[in-house]
Amino acid sequence: MASRDPATDQLINYKKSIKDAPGYITTKSGAPVGVKTAIQTVGKNGPALLQDVYFLDEMSAFDRERIPERVVHAKGAGAFGYFEVTHDITKYCAAKVFESVGKRTPIGIRFSTVGGESGSADTVRDPRGFSMKFYTDDGIWDLVGNNTPIFFLRDPTLFPSFMHSQKRNPATHLKDPDMFWDFLTLRPETMHQVIYMFGDRGIPDGFRHMNGYGSHTYKIVNAQGVAHWVKFHSKTNQGVKNLPVDKAAELASSDPDYSLRDLYNAIAKGEYPSWTFYIQVMTMAQAENCKFNPFDLTKIWPHADYPLIPVGKFVLDRNPKNYFAEVEQIAFSPANLVPGIEPSPDKMLQGRLFAYSDTQRHRLGANFLQIPVNCPYRVNVANYQRDGPLNSSNQDGAPNYFPNSFSGPQECPRAQRLQPRVAVSGDVDRYDSGQTEDNFSQVTVLYKQVFDDAQKERLVNNIVDNLRHAAGFLQERAIKLFTQIHPDFGSKVAAGLAPHKKYHANL
Ligand code: HEM
Repeated sequence: MASRDPATDQLINYKKSIKDAPGYITTKSGAPVGVKTAIQTVGKNGPALLQDVYFLDEMSAFDRERIPERVVHAKGAGAFGYFEVTHDITKYCAAKVFESVGKRTPIGIRFSTVGGESGSADTVRDPRGFSMKFYTDDGIWDLVGNNTPIFFLRDPTLFPSFMHSQKRNPATHLKDPDMFWDFLTLRPETMHQVIYMFGDRGIPDGFRHMNGYGSHTYKIVNAQGVAHWVKFHSKTNQGVKNLPVDKAAELASSDPDYSLRDLYNAIAKGEYPSWTFYIQVMTMAQAENCKFNPFDLTKIWPHADYPLIPVGKFVLDRNPKNYFAEVEQIAFSPANLVPGIEPSPDKMLQGRLFAYSDTQRHRLGANFLQIPVNCPYRVNVANYQRDGPLNSSNQDGAPNYFPNSFSGPQECPRAQRLQPRVAVSGDVDRYDSGQTEDNFSQVTVLYKQVFDDAQKERLVNNIVDNLRHAAGFLQERAIKLFTQIHPDFGSKVAAGLAPHKKYHANL
């Protein structure tokens, strides 16, 4: 008989692990249940009784099983492990997670697709989420990035519209190629990421074979209070591997959970995936004189100018035991920062600082940080917040107001030192940079110099295959943008679309 993988054998392995006879079924309140297979009725054919508390207990639990799925990144897999420092970067950053070479910090990671619902296929063309939670000695640090160093937008106000255009049309409940291409082609800053996504890296082969990027610029501060700008990169030690389109399409129907299964089985078999962690660093003076806006999320920092500096590695060596508790309820937020790591002025990052805990209070409840997987369990949480739904701590009777004369927790001078004062000035306004920024230089380099001829051909085919479903005027608008990236690119897409154009009326 063909051998089965660990994911398929989960229940068999559970049974093998149980040495004694199974215990009794209980209600939620712990009372043993006598009969589990029949509702209590008057006579053989009913009706049923409201006094059947076993039935009420069971059904009311079932009725509440689902919580709102994430509004984006709903389908994903998670795993746990550790981060280990291999190189000293204390001259840049005083965060405890980087304190000394050899230091290990427990981590949780969730990988995801972006646009699909919780049950959608894994092998679609879409960015992949790459969220890291570090349970540090200074509380939780979350690095909530993607498998791409850039993003479609540079202004957070556009994010809800951008996501709406990628998700289902509210009238038809269908994915809508007109919505998708309309938004993208009205906002030229999306082009860099669009080309990245329609290239080979748009469909990674599972989650283990892709890189991760913090994507934004952050600020790091050293023990002397000196700050640098930084970007975080995670390079897969399994090697980058992507799926050819036909294989991805086949898997989307034969094994829609391909990436989840692959990650679970690798870890269950002891083939622990790992990544090497790097930073790129820019001094404040370099940022002042930088040719591009170093806080623009649609741009990379060229490695030739800002080389990768090795920091550490991380390893995933434990699967979740309870997917719902540990993966569905895990809550990442770019606002979970620790002393030594701060946000930059990147507007997208600033917008994200609000969005995540806001959605999590809705998705998980006000005290979601007390759920074990989210709890900063390596520190003692001590503050002046109390109560709320499902709160179970009164912080041992400490005072709930500040200042106080009763030994309540005090301000931390180290945290203060690591947040040096910053001068800012400027006119308050709404600065739409869609047309005024440089939207094309970097994507032209990606097309011209990074993609070889075969990659260029696949890119064109992938775009044509998608864009052919959009209305003719949107195809025209897209071709204009592709021509701005490179005339050769525009004409190849136009040629690929020519046979399809007649089917689409213009507005
Ligand atoms: C203004 C821009 C953005 C907004 C408002 C936003 C908002 C959100 C929201 C509301 C969630 C659901 C969180 C939850 O339910 O726990 C989410 C998830 C996520 N976002 Fe964003 N997002 C933005 C940009 C980005 C960018 C630029 C990246 C990557 C660089 C990113 C990566 C992720 C990831 C990886 C997740 C999944 C987290 C998880 O695994 O639980 N997002 N985002």
